Amino acid sequence: METFLADAREATDAAIAAALAEGLPAAHAVLGERIRYAVLGSGKRFRPALVLAGYDAAGGRSPHIADLAAAVEIVHAYSLVHDDLPCMDNDDLRRGRPTLHRAFGVRPATVAGFGMVPVAAAAVVRGGALLALAPEATRRVLELLFRAAGGGGMIGGQVLDLAAGGQRLTPDELRGINARKTGALIAASVEIGAVAAGLGAGACAPFRAYGECVGAAFQIADDVLDLTATSAQLGKTPGKDRKLGKPTFPLVFGVDAARDEAERLAARAVAHLEAAGISSPLLAALARFVVARRL
Ligand code: IPE
Ligand code: IPE
Ligand code: MG
Ligand code: MG
Ligand code: MG
Repeated sequence: METFLADAREATDAAIAAALAEGLPAAHAVLGERIRYAVLGSGKRFRPALVLAGYDAAGGRSPHIADLAAAVEIVHAYSLVHDDLPCMDNDDLRRGRPTLHRAFGVRPATVAGFGMVPVAAAAVVRGGALLALAPEATRRVLELLFRAAGGGGMIGGQVLDLAAGGQRLTPDELRGINARKTGALIAASVEIGAVAAGLGAGACAPFRAYGECVGAAFQIADDVLDLTATSAQLGKTPGKDRKLGKPTFPLVFGVDAARDEAERLAARAVAHLEAAGISSPLLAALARFVVARRL
């Protein structure tokens, strides 16, 4: 598993560097420096690992899948830049170093975050060409990625998350926020791998169901770590959710209940694959990683 994650990181970072070299015109060297800082810092590259593992499980074999994984990671990195802004979670530390706005200022960081979105779109087109995908498959990848990032997914979830500060929520409302703000991009990552391997919409369904469960577990694990891990382990400031009054699973129901819910979700994720006859040790190990991780 460690080897797979390390290899996924290496392949993705090479593809990100190539996508940035192509997607950022030389005239914008300063913007490029900020975008590189945000995208190529440490970080788990968990979503890229899911793209690669989903592709593998669906029978894909080209190394250029890393070029689509890069596009997903660029969208994720943009979401972190904006999530950290003073008007959002107001964080100073990300991936073990100052957040982009702490390093370069709020306006440059805001602009760099927006600037990453078209680079990600171009990276999908680039990845589709390198993988020699049919135009329809590239279109589906674009749709999956940007629907997941949009108002019905990540951004919609961020709106609900920000509005939830100081509020009491039902478990289902909490699940709905997590599904949008984090689950959508994680589910899209696995499905993008399956689409790139040539699967049609029906055959992708178990991959999506797996990804939705893994995504929900991932956010609960993040919320548990906010309460239980150190800044050195996380590379971000712990204890922020309590400070911001966020009604997270462990804050509302306790750390043990939250861990149980995450374990259940990880098991359900793998059960979705097994029920469809998909055997993927990699996807199974990634689901376990989500609940066992300490970073
Ligand atoms: C953090 O994501 C934001 C959430 C959606 C919980 P990650 O924990 O994947 O952050 P990096 O990419 O490893 O820094
Ligand atoms: C982030 O959730 C979800 C995003 C869409 C970025 P958090 O706000 O909990 O992520 P961290 O803890 O700052 O990484
Ligand atoms: Mg947030
Ligand atoms: Mg945050
Ligand atoms: Mg968090």
